Amino acid sequence: MAARRWPAGGQLNGTARFGQPMACTEGERRAFARLVRQGFESADEGLDGRIREAKCLAFYYAAADTLGAIAALKAPDADYRADVFRQAQAPVNADDYALELGWVFVVPAHRGNRIAEGLCRQLLARVPRSPVFATTRPNNISMIRILLALDFARVGKPYPRREEELVLYLRPRPTVTVPGPAT
Ligand SMILES: CC(C)(COP(=O)(O)OP(=O)(O)OC[C@H]1O[C@@H](n2cnc3c(N)ncnc32)[C@H](O)[C@@H]1OP(=O)(O)O)[C@@H](O)C(=O)NCCC(=O)NCCS
Repeated sequence: MAARRWPAGGQLNGTARFGQPMACTEGERRAFARLVRQGFESADEGLDGRIREAKCLAFYYAAADTLGAIAALKAPDADYRADVFRQAQAPVNADDYALELGWVFVVPAHRGNRIAEGLCRQLLARVPRSPVFATTRPNNISMIRILLALDFARVGKPYPRREEELVLYLRPRPTVTVPGPAT
């Protein structure tokens, strides 16, 4: 996996690593899953398989063996994507958005340093031409700021999922065609 000091020229001392799941070690995947479970209590179902199917995993190590943050470009199945886009009443086709930016989690002790934005930005730089979606709670101010900084646009309507409400964000923002006057 590629590793680099983090951030380039910045003040944090950590190291970011990015890799395809099957290029990561079993230990790295297990550590990633541990943080997913810590951050997203409802994420357990089929988690190990979904981690292996992701396009790219991002790891931020605050120190040699201390995983401080994660993020991923996930490759969710078509049914899940169709369900999200239908529920959000998105004005675009879910088939066009194969990748999801998700499992974005910073261990509380490391929050407030814009680590998540850096990880997400570098993940997205790996797929500059691929449409990507993300979902978040409408009151998750930090995540929304990150998504907007990364050129995602909110689309559709808030929709219920499990115990919470979510909103859908897309990158690139969809181009809305405004019909011209009837001639
Ligand atoms: C969301 C999360 C990943 C962000 O982690 P982080 O990298 O430490 O993010 P930061 O707190 O440094 O900052 C993110 C942005 O939100 C802003 N922000 C944070 N709290 C804020 C608040 N209460 N009001 C306004 N802005 C706020 C920060 O200023 C920053 O914006 P800026 O870069 O424009 O200044 C982290 O809070 C987390 O792990 N939360 C739990 C899991 C989660 O919600 N993940 C997202 C699921 S979709």
